Amino acid sequence: METIHTISGMKQVSREARAKGRVVGLIPTMGALHEGHFSLVREAQRRCSPVVVSIFVNPAQFGPSEDFQKYPRSLESDRAALEALGVDYLFAPAPEEMYPAGFCTSVVVEGLSDRLEGRSRQGHFRGVATVVAKLFEMVGPSFAYFGRKDAQQARIIRQMTRDLDIETQIVTCPIVRESDGLALSSRNLYLAGDDRRAATALYRSLESLERQVAAGESDVARLLAAARGVLSAEPRVKIDYAEIVDADTLEPVMSLRGSCLVLLAATVGSTRLIDNALVEQEGDSFRATV
Ligand code: PAF
Repeated sequence: METIHTISGMKQVSREARAKGRVVGLIPTMGALHEGHFSLVREAQRRCSPVVVSIFVNPAQFGPSEDFQKYPRSLESDRAALEALGVDYLFAPAPEEMYPAGFCTSVVVEGLSDRLEGRSRQGHFRGVATVVAKLFEMVGPSFAYFGRKDAQQARIIRQMTRDLDIETQIVTCPIVRESDGLALSSRNLYLAGDDRRAATALYRSLESLERQVAAGESDVARLLAAARGVLSAEPRVKIDYAEIVDADTLEPVMSLRGSCLVLLAATVGSTRLIDNALVEQEGDSFRATV
């Protein structure tokens, strides 16, 4: 595996690969890699060669009171893990490369970015869309891989590629969970002791919703009341939002229809976590995937 630190180096490698007719795959990450990221790598390796993993802790997507400074950074162990997986290139640009002095352009996906995570984390998706657009320009991937845990992010990036005629196909992969259901996230490293135990409440709440959907419940108010009940029963958990939205528009729905997302955000101790379930219509009934 080759590690590339410069944008010019990355562009050259991907230009040469594309000239040879190769299919470039990109997994954009902020490092502190875990099995969720590795599942994206394995999915990319099924149809892309070379596979590029980028690691860049993007300051533009953190608010002033958020965890940019303490966000886990583990470049050496990340590099070793990617090498062992057979990744072709690790792209790890420096902040000065990504945002040189005088940088003043950003990408805003209107509407979709203002709701849910965007309402709680002002400017977050502007930072995400901007850096992902830049990474797409640098790497020129045919396919880019994102986890469904960040469902709103994946939807926004898909919209961005459509609106900006970016020829990268967005692939969204399933959520990977710990054995007790906690969705894998680099921020889980912040959780210890009682917080770690309490953090499973998000999964438990989605799991109970999954059971109710399987039993035929489709009334959103009732489903959400039950999901919130599971979260509220855990004193260390403070709900930010629990919503059921149309998977395409991200607008709230009154009753299940088509494809919906159940989106949860909560703070456990001082750690903010998100999780979700996808609910899809199958004939006359619905099936939730947690
Ligand atoms: O999901 C993430 O890790 C980040 O938001 C991303 C897509 C790498 C952009 O910085």
